[in-house]
Amino acid sequence: MSRFTGHTVIVTGGASGIGEATVRAIVREGGKVLIADLQEKEGEALAQQLGDAAIFQKTDVTNEADIIAAVARAEQALGPLTGMVNNAGIIGAVGSITETTVEAFDRTMAILSRAVFLGVKHATKAMKPHGKGAIVSLASSAGVMGGLGPHTYTMAKHGVVGLTKSAASELSGYGIRINAVAPGGTVTPLTAALTGGDTEAITEFIKSSTPLGIPCLPEDIAGGILYLLSDEARFVTGHTLAIDGGITTSVLNTSFHHDDSEILLHAGQRTEQ
Ligand code: NAI
Repeated sequence: MSRFTGHTVIVTGGASGIGEATVRAIVREGGKVLIADLQEKEGEALAQQLGDAAIFQKTDVTNEADIIAAVARAEQALGPLTGMVNNAGIIGAVGSITETTVEAFDRTMAILSRAVFLGVKHATKAMKPHGKGAIVSLASSAGVMGGLGPHTYTMAKHGVVGLTKSAASELSGYGIRINAVAPGGTVTPLTAALTGGDTEAITEFIKSSTPLGIPCLPEDIAGGILYLLSDEARFVTGHTLAIDGGITTSVLNTSFHHDDSEILLHAGQRTEQ
């Protein structure tokens, strides 16, 4: 018996990047998945590869009717909903706050924040009668501190962390856990777009800007999502799990263990004087 045997999970944005790695990992561990994404070709191809364990449903996560339909189809085709992963995302509005249009702001918030609210709302409605379920939403290191993403993205991801805390006690009453993961830079099509699709360049950038000094892959994030979805995390709710190679551990974002040891030594001597 595998960790996700008997589980039915919806993964929004499951056709690419972190979502795709999550879909594959759940299926590998015995679960069934509904891939809810806008990308029809990629989503259908992934579902086909995974056989009976996965189905694709074209879904715009900003549209409440689409979320309701995805939940209904998952329950009807795969079984009672046990997990919801609110993962779909974009980078959205970029640039100076003074140049950000209301339209770009609203679109970004709709995908990154309102869609998470909709996912939580309708997954909860489905899970309540079963008295059990787990929801995991994608925040970001930009959801716990400033300076790690564009303004609207940062605001939206802080909202994800906020809803995760806010909803935890209400949902606990129904046996439903709600958590978030906060990835640092991860090598996916979303971040590769920042280097014009050059995966090698984005991998190198993530490596060099992360204290652990290794590139984060979608599978690293999927591992945390699966933990929070699984019964191993049965006592964990309202939590945001950083999977970021240490990027949010220090404002300096540097290590004193190597090159700066001399500075520390001198600072210590000055204190003693
Ligand atoms: P990705 O671009 O590889 O995949 C995102 C998926 O979401 C795509 O398949 C896309 O079609 C889908 N999507 C976008 N808008 C949608 C909509 N309105 N309705 C349905 N599906 C939609 O991106 P990645 O990197 O895998 O990102 C996944 C999540 O992780 C996002 O929420 C992102 O903000 C978050 N994240 C990513 C980080 C990274 O460095 N890659 C870091 C921190 C958080």
